[in-house]
Amino acid sequence: MNEKVKLTEEQIKARNPSYGFQDLLDLEDVDVPPALRENTNTYLGSEDLPLDRWTSREFFDLEVQKLWTRTWQMACRESQVAKPGDYLVYDIANFSILITRTEEGELKAYHNSCLHRGRALKRGAGSSPELRCPYHGFTWALSGEFKGAPCEWDFPHIDKGEFSLPEVKVDTWAGWVLINMDENAQPLEEYMGILPEHFERWNHEQRYISMHVQKVIGANWKAVLEAFIESYHAIATHPQIMSYQGIDNSQYDVWGDNVSRTITPSAIVNPSHEDQYDEQDSVNTMLGTSVLVGETGDDSETAVKSRARDTIAGINSEAFQPMHSETLEGYATKSELMDSTLYLLFPNFAPWAGFGPVLTYRHRPNGDDHNSCIMDIFFLNPFPEGEERPDDAPTVRLEIDEPFSKAADVMGEGLARIFDQDASNLPQVQKGMKASKKGTVTLANYQEVRIRHFHQTLDKYLNA
Ligand code: FES
Ligand SMILES: [Fe+2]
Repeated sequence: MNEKVKLTEEQIKARNPSYGFQDLLDLEDVDVPPALRENTNTYLGSEDLPLDRWTSREFFDLEVQKLWTRTWQMACRESQVAKPGDYLVYDIANFSILITRTEEGELKAYHNSCLHRGRALKRGAGSSPELRCPYHGFTWALSGEFKGAPCEWDFPHIDKGEFSLPEVKVDTWAGWVLINMDENAQPLEEYMGILPEHFERWNHEQRYISMHVQKVIGANWKAVLEAFIESYHAIATHPQIMSYQGIDNSQYDVWGDNVSRTITPSAIVNPSHEDQYDEQDSVNTMLGTSVLVGETGDDSETAVKSRARDTIAGINSEAFQPMHSETLEGYATKSELMDSTLYLLFPNFAPWAGFGPVLTYRHRPNGDDHNSCIMDIFFLNPFPEGEERPDDAPTVRLEIDEPFSKAADVMGEGLARIFDQDASNLPQVQKGMKASKKGTVTLANYQEVRIRHFHQTLDKYLNA
């Protein structure tokens, strides 16, 4: 669709004719948190977006210059740099940020580049009492002050007091470490908008990484990110989940410039597949085995719709309880025990919500390449307060030609299959975008509003 087509109110408000996520919340037995009751119903326009946003080198270069240098980005978990001397390198496009913890326990982030002749100071992650460049041995304290170099007599022109490592802003939220290269960046808390308030209840601080798979995918980083902020594609791409995922009645929200959300309800048949499956199929497919849904004697439509959700909520509540100090029964909604609730903090940090083990995604360019990206998939597991923090799982790295099924032992076969279905689209998306005669993408008004929201924020950075 081209420039400024006028839509009627009715067209803008068009939603799946079946019940929605908010109707399912009406069937909850406990208090529903206000965060789930929010329903922004935002319309941001219907204009096409030009494809060069994903395919052109110039656009990518502009992002490097104006986006990655100015936004808050998730670099790692606090647990990965817990002790003095622990360090971790976060690479983004051509930039490299070295995160470490000082003797005093303070988090610091530096540009990972030696002030002598530029060698990257560190790679990967590890622990060292000081930051010593392997090339000629210039050395800095963990706190960034220059300590010295071999043959200092040859550098009378260096003012040691002025030769500290240039710093990058660093802050934490819910156990995550985020960085921002912009010295004048707005504080993280302000940047995050409603996010911290929403997540207070789900307490991601009290979690550890139980799985981390990192894969190179042959498509622009935005194309890959966008495949995970709408559920619409699941109808064609993941047909095996239609018996237990309410794709058509997913809710999509956006707040301010930086936060958006999808909630896709589980343990219900997708409304447009109700002629193929019933609530017993939902439960059987979710559990991989046949467990009878509870009969209540109430045959009203809503009672039948909530039967599978009641069954799965009961099973999940018991399964998740040992991971929590607080009692889930009477507190956790069914939604928080099973639904897919995915937030995005612009530009590329996507934590999921809920009381069970939850996913978190991060998407970034694969170094300097605008045609490939690195996708990180984390599972965060809760553990009870007072118990020792379990160790984070090691990273499983998959290269561009390695399928997620290669990591099925850590991801589980069902999840690996879903990600492989997504990954099979993406290089073809990149290829087709370049091959396009039309030259634009056409977005759904509601189900793809998060993609439009993302691009509108991106424009604010690129035009700044
Ligand atoms: S480049 Fe680092 S010490 Fe020479
Ligand atoms: Fe998908």
